Amino acid sequence: MKPNAATKPVLLYFEDELESATRIGHSAGLDIQLIKRHRFPDGEIKLRLPALLPPQVVILRSLQQPNEKLVELLLAAQTARTLGAQHLTLVAPYLAYMRQDIAFEPGEAVSQRLVGNFLASLFDALITVDPHLHRVASLQEAAPLAQAIVLSGAPLLSDLIAARRNKPLLMGPDAESAQWVAVAAMRHGFDHAVCHKVRHGDHTVQLELPDVVVGAREVVLIDDVASTGQTVAQAACLLLAAGAASVDVAVTHALFAGDALAVLRSAGVGEIWSTDCIAHSSNAISMAAPIASALAEVLGNNTAS
Ligand code: R5P
Repeated sequence: MKPNAATKPVLLYFEDELESATRIGHSAGLDIQLIKRHRFPDGEIKLRLPALLPPQVVILRSLQQPNEKLVELLLAAQTARTLGAQHLTLVAPYLAYMRQDIAFEPGEAVSQRLVGNFLASLFDALITVDPHLHRVASLQEAAPLAQAIVLSGAPLLSDLIAARRNKPLLMGPDAESAQWVAVAAMRHGFDHAVCHKVRHGDHTVQLELPDVVVGAREVVLIDDVASTGQTVAQAACLLLAAGAASVDVAVTHALFAGDALAVLRSAGVGEIWSTDCIAHSSNAISMAAPIASALAEVLGNNTAS
């Protein structure tokens, strides 16, 4: 049966994600509605959702700068349930806190598991893009939900690279990036390799190039995320010193904290391409269509309508 206006799923968004919500809503054929936010003088926030919600509700929240957004999700998800939502999907194109997946030192919080469990307590389904799953095999292990869909920016970034560069060498800056580099390389038959990285601190990494002939190749560095930019900047320096004709950067998540872009430029990086999972001036790829397909799967499989 075709849903009417009262039962048709709706996508709720926050004001700062209007553009992303519009693209996803358009691709998915969903109406979008604003969650209004008020900040009190003491810093607390108040949310106001549409007063009547259909059985299936999608909330869009990309989780860069995540701390306050996690409180927003607590307030929004619980309120949506009281307003009629029976099935709640979180679309978090960037999923925060995934890198801390073990206690590296005694006493450390394993943020991945804690944040994953928190989101699983609020939502029925989760759709995200290239979460940093290194030592766990699936998103369900990090966020135990019945429906947890992982999309990747690597295929579309690969298509962009194929259009812009001639037989490039794809390079991952560290072992974790091998999964995304392999997907991007296979799609167009690109040569690929990954560097060896040791991290000494937030802003200090040490890289070694793999044993491949860089020659005068056009090289593209691929990673899930660039934060301080130190990882890809160091890789770019080594590649240019090894004779690379050019080094460009393609990342799914453009966190680019602080002076990261300047760090990349001074390392000799040419183009910087990212997906729109995090809104940024480097966005060159939209993930709206793959997210819409995942939403069709989640909402189509759900019976709360
Ligand atoms: C870690 O393994 C990630 O894939 C990235 O390589 C890392 O988070 C990048 O961080 P930064 O840009 O601060 O070096």
